[in-house]
Amino acid sequence: MQKVSIVGAGRVGESTAHFLAKIDVCREIQLLDVREGVAQGAALDIHESAPLFGFDTRVEGGSDPAAMKDSELVVITAGIPRKPGMSRSDVLDTNVRIIDSVMDDVLAHAPQAMVLVVSNPVDVLTYRAWQHSGWARSRVFGQAGVLDTSRMVSFLAMETGFSVRDIDAMVLGGHGDGMVPLVRYSTVSGIPISHFLSDHAIERIIERTRHGGAEILALKQTSSAYGAPAAAVAHMADAIARNRKRVLPTVTILEGEYGEENLAMGVPCILGKGGVEKVIELDLNDEENAMFQASLNGVREDLARLKDRDTLSQAEGS
Ligand code: 2OP
Repeated sequence: MQKVSIVGAGRVGESTAHFLAKIDVCREIQLLDVREGVAQGAALDIHESAPLFGFDTRVEGGSDPAAMKDSELVVITAGIPRKPGMSRSDVLDTNVRIIDSVMDDVLAHAPQAMVLVVSNPVDVLTYRAWQHSGWARSRVFGQAGVLDTSRMVSFLAMETGFSVRDIDAMVLGGHGDGMVPLVRYSTVSGIPISHFLSDHAIERIIERTRHGGAEILALKQTSSAYGAPAAAVAHMADAIARNRKRVLPTVTILEGEYGEENLAMGVPCILGKGGVEKVIELDLNDEENAMFQASLNGVREDLARLKDRDTLSQAEGS
């Protein structure tokens, strides 16, 4: 890949730029932020670490959206973050406005790009970005499950003492408290985790995974998580840039899979140079399906808020 743009030079955007540069996944990274100087400063800081890490990716920063020209991938991290006590949905109104404006810029300056949405609430904002683009769903998707799965794996590693390299997990659903960690698809070197952990311990890990973002926010108070979220974005960008055909939980538009359409939700997808190349449908048992439906309801509620908001602004405009 030649060029990736990252919109939003907050902590997630800046860390994503640094992680991507370190893995030399593209020749150029363009970091953008509406705050004058912020993206330039962050880019320069990253660039000055290039000799120490030995990467050749050029990292540039700026405020002019025209600089995203020729990007093959645009990562959107812009948006207001959650404050302690706020849900991801609480930030919906402001972040919808931001996504709309960023997508206008993408359509104007990088109409060939793929778009990876990171801003929260990510399921709804991915849907919004896709709707705004008018593009095939393969080109507009979001990050949630890679982070949630990484959290679950790290908790499983802490609990068992085993290497993270041997642990696999899968987390589906919306990126909210109702996300669906799939115990049946979580293993240590192919052995189900139930072989090593009691039901009680597994339940504790599931709950911790569901509240992984809130746990960090409650501890840090003034900042959401950004290291693991940025690493998750870099992981997805690497799958696309190197056409790896990785099977990763991805927020994608459902077009009949899982019996749903017209919404975006985290499900396993094949990621390669075409973006979301395929959606994988898993057979869910009754218990998993009940959790999945509950998570769907959360996403639907946010989508309904989005529609109400649009109706209201249309009425105000007319
Ligand atoms: C998280 O889960 C903020 O959604 C982000 O940490």
